[in-house]
Amino acid sequence: MADPQVTGLRSAEFRVPDLAAAKKFYEECWGLETAAEEGNTVYLRGTGSEHHCLALHEGGDKKLLYVNLAADDKQAVDGLYEKAKGLGASVDAPGDLAGPEGGYGFVFRDMNEREYRISAGLAAHAEKPPAEGRPIKISHVVQNSPDRQAQSEQFIDLLGFKLSDRTGFMDFIRCSNDHHALAYTSIDTPTFNHCAFEMPSHNALMFGAGRMKQTGYPTEWGVGRHGPGDNIFAYFVDPNGYVIEYTAEVQQVDDSYKVGMPDDWVRPPELQGDNWGFADGASDRMRANTK
Ligand SMILES: [Fe+2]
Repeated sequence: MADPQVTGLRSAEFRVPDLAAAKKFYEECWGLETAAEEGNTVYLRGTGSEHHCLALHEGGDKKLLYVNLAADDKQAVDGLYEKAKGLGASVDAPGDLAGPEGGYGFVFRDMNEREYRISAGLAAHAEKPPAEGRPIKISHVVQNSPDRQAQSEQFIDLLGFKLSDRTGFMDFIRCSNDHHALAYTSIDTPTFNHCAFEMPSHNALMFGAGRMKQTGYPTEWGVGRHGPGDNIFAYFVDPNGYVIEYTAEVQQVDDSYKVGMPDDWVRPPELQGDNWGFADGASDRMRANTK
C-alpha cells in the first residue's frame, strides 16, 4: 500500500461565548448555512459537499478547538494513525466519531499540542450551485508557531503533506491540489492566526465583502492578491476576535510545482502582501487578533 495521506481540509472548530450570536453572524453576515445543531454546537456548511466547514461550540472565549482533515477511507485513517504513532506523535486510537456527520477517525496533536481530527466516511451533502457571496468550503487554516519549520515538517513527515512555499515568515503546506491547506507563521506563540473560506470567484468574493461592510464588518486587509498561492483575499475580524478570510482563485498545483524558498519571495515593501500593490497593510485590529 502506498504511504497513507491526508487528502483534504474539512473544517475548523471555534469555541465561542455566545452560540446564538455567533450562529447569526456566520449565517447572516458570512454566508454559511446551518447543517445541524446538537447540544452546544452548531455545524455550518458552505455550498460544497462537505457536511460542514465550521463548527461553533459554546463554552468560552476564542480558541481553535480542532482542525478536521480528510483521508480517503478507513484503511487510510488506520495507516495514518499507525504511522504517526510509530513516529512518536501524540494520538488517540481511531474509532467511530460522535457528531451528526458520523465517520471514523482519530485525533492527532501537533508539536504545540494543538488538536487535529483525521477522518473518513463522513455524511456529505449534494453540492449546491456556486452563489454570489457564499463560501464553498474552508480553504486554509493558519496558525502561529514558535518553530514553524519543524511544525510544518511534522505534517510532511507524519501525514504526507507537501511543502508548497517557504517565505521568510510563513510555511505553506498542501494535502491536495490547492496550494495550501495549512500554513504556519513565525509568530512566537502557538496561537490561531486566521482561516479562509473559498469563494467561487473574484466577483463572489466582492459580494461577500460588500455584505460584510454593509453589516458592520469592514475589510481589515485587502482586497488583494497574495504571492504564495496567488489567491485573492479579503480579511475580516468576527465578533469574537477570530480573523477570517474570503479567498478565491487559489493556485492549483501538482508535483511539478517548484517549491519556493525565502529568496524567491523577496518583494519590494509595497508588494509585500499583495501582488497588485492595491491593499494597504493589515489593520491594527487584525494584527491584534492574529497574535
Ligand atoms: Fe489566508
